[in-house]
Amino acid sequence: MRNELVQKLVEHQGEYVSGERLSESLGVSRTAIWKQIEVLKKQGYQIESAPKKGYQLMGRPDGLQEHDIHLYLHTKRLGQSVSYYATVPSTQAVAHELAQAGEPEGHVVVADEQTSGRGRFGRNWSSAAGTSISMSLLLRPALAPENVPPLTLVAAVAVTRAIEKVTDLEADIKWPNDILLNGKKIVGILTEMQSEPGLANVVILGIGINANQTDEELIHDDRNQSTSLATEKGELINRAELLANILEEFEWLYDAYLKNGFKEIKLLWEARSISIGLNLEAKSIHGTVTGRSVGISEDGALLVEDAQGITHKVYSADVQS
Ligand code: BTN
Repeated sequence: MRNELVQKLVEHQGEYVSGERLSESLGVSRTAIWKQIEVLKKQGYQIESAPKKGYQLMGRPDGLQEHDIHLYLHTKRLGQSVSYYATVPSTQAVAHELAQAGEPEGHVVVADEQTSGRGRFGRNWSSAAGTSISMSLLLRPALAPENVPPLTLVAAVAVTRAIEKVTDLEADIKWPNDILLNGKKIVGILTEMQSEPGLANVVILGIGINANQTDEELIHDDRNQSTSLATEKGELINRAELLANILEEFEWLYDAYLKNGFKEIKLLWEARSISIGLNLEAKSIHGTVTGRSVGISEDGALLVEDAQGITHKVYSADVQS
């Protein structure tokens, strides 16, 4: 009901809307409306109340609660339900637990702050309170486990498209899971699965975004290589709007991937990629490959040609160029 209440207040921004009208259109008592208004005020919503006139929305916080996100959400499945945490060790861990408890596909776990955010290869991921976006999307694709890794690339395309839509900034994709602006990292993607032989039961797609951190706040996060959208844009961004747009972009790309495979999305990925034509070193659990990246395969692997002219398919690696 809070989602609909916020929607109504935003629709009527700049004017009063009576408690009676709200209670009729939402099918709840006026006391219930009042209680929800109090909750919203505590979250930072500026709402004026006047006797006989009702409520008027004067301002909104840069929140990531379900009702903040739903204001911008135009998806059919993804993000229709959201678990929000002001602070949590890791949204990935929560999403895994919810998946095991039977939560359906599309559920999103969002946090304003993570205290033990995790990145690839067991690294830490720092998610500053109130300025970053930490989200984990629960997916239940009917895919064989070997067809799951390209979802990271599909997500990277979705995130860059959403960033461009919301901020006008053109971000670059560094294979497989980094998104950069002016050579500095703004987004990390972590794809994890709970699988059984032959079937990826659950995929948890974790996305961490440096959204509104100042340059100083990024110092502890390897300042030379990290930046935030706000730093690059020169103005604060609306985190809920960006998150909703990521879900919207990912929904159609994900459906296209499930239906037709990676072939068409590969073209979109290549158009945003800065990982081709580089001399690099790719370290994975299978060893280190040194050479020149010549492209990606139809299944999303990085193709690296070594000094002997042999092309290696690298599926998951830490890449340094
Ligand atoms: C990386 O670049 O190594 C991937 C970073 C992924 C971070 C996100 S933030 C939301 C989700 N929760 C986590 O603990 N990690 C992912």
